Amino acid sequence: MPSIRVELRENSYPIIVDQKILGETGELLRSQTKSEKVIVIADAFVSRRYGGKVLESLSNAGFDARMTEVPSGEEHKSLEWFGRLQDQLVNHRMDRTSTLIALGGGVIGDLAGFVAATYMRGISYVQIPTTLQAQVDASVGGKTGINHPDGKNLIGAFYQPKLVLIDVSTLKSLSPRDVRAGFIEVIKHGVIMDVPLFDQIEENLDAILNLDSNILISVIARSCADKAEVVAGDEKESRLRMTLNYGHTFGHALESITDYNAYRHGEAVAIGMTCAAQLACNLGMLSLSDMERQKRLIKRTGLPTSFPSGMQPDLLLDAMYLDKKAKGGKLNLVLPTRIGEVDIRDDINDSDVLHAISQCIGNETSSPLP
Ligand code: GLY
Repeated sequence: MPSIRVELRENSYPIIVDQKILGETGELLRSQTKSEKVIVIADAFVSRRYGGKVLESLSNAGFDARMTEVPSGEEHKSLEWFGRLQDQLVNHRMDRTSTLIALGGGVIGDLAGFVAATYMRGISYVQIPTTLQAQVDASVGGKTGINHPDGKNLIGAFYQPKLVLIDVSTLKSLSPRDVRAGFIEVIKHGVIMDVPLFDQIEENLDAILNLDSNILISVIARSCADKAEVVAGDEKESRLRMTLNYGHTFGHALESITDYNAYRHGEAVAIGMTCAAQLACNLGMLSLSDMERQKRLIKRTGLPTSFPSGMQPDLLLDAMYLDKKAKGGKLNLVLPTRIGEVDIRDDINDSDVLHAISQCIGNETSSPLP
């Protein structure tokens, strides 16, 4: 089975990408740990579909395993649920040798990962991401955390899992909208660092969106390998890892001014990448043909490429400055210089940013697909 290694010295770990492997969770975990006790923290919806299979496999491999559910939704990435889950670990008499498994999307991965990072000052954990966004982004690289009423992910830790298990078969239970939104992170990896991946997506997009397992395994593995390389080069995001934020400063701001209920994260990032490319093109950093090539692929994926009509550019810019990725009162913008390469700039004038935003407002349909 395709396996990628995230190289972080004593914190290195494998990412396994395959189909129909949830039933092998116990065996795969056994090869990584001598733990006896395991707790699976699962999204309630995911648990109904896959929880039984994962638990059975764990007990067949000799683990004393139990499952606890968290209702679906970003609002559960909270201090309250963090406390409830810590109670569960105490009740299950988890000790320092025990293992926690996060089964679900990005919310579960971040929340359960942060529980693992802090229980007894840190116990082993495994990510089993079941959404595309979590498979290609959130589950890889050890960012864990919860939200504060004043901001997303304000409380958290870098804490690497022992294993990431990606079963592409789980994507069949997602809505087409969530598949398309999650896929923007794969396109992003192509644009920031991987021309062959970008080419492969262009050639195989229909098969990818039809969830053909072989092509999915190939592009997801490649995308995770790209992210693993970036994380290995800069685990704590001092510079190189910031390139993964391509499109995100614009995207987070759009999510924030629309109260997190109009767009999927990936849809906002798709618009953000389009605007970042427009800005780079205006500044002479990126060719018109590369800007249009990216936009064509985003559109073919069925994702929006423009801000909602009527949006005030300065409202978006203000929200960009509030994003926690803005440092020392300056925006750090990741801007493409060609397909496969980006630069990080903190010297772009607000007037240039505002102009690019205005060019990307509502000149075509930007409403999310059903
Ligand atoms: N999602 C960006 C990162 O993991 O750094």
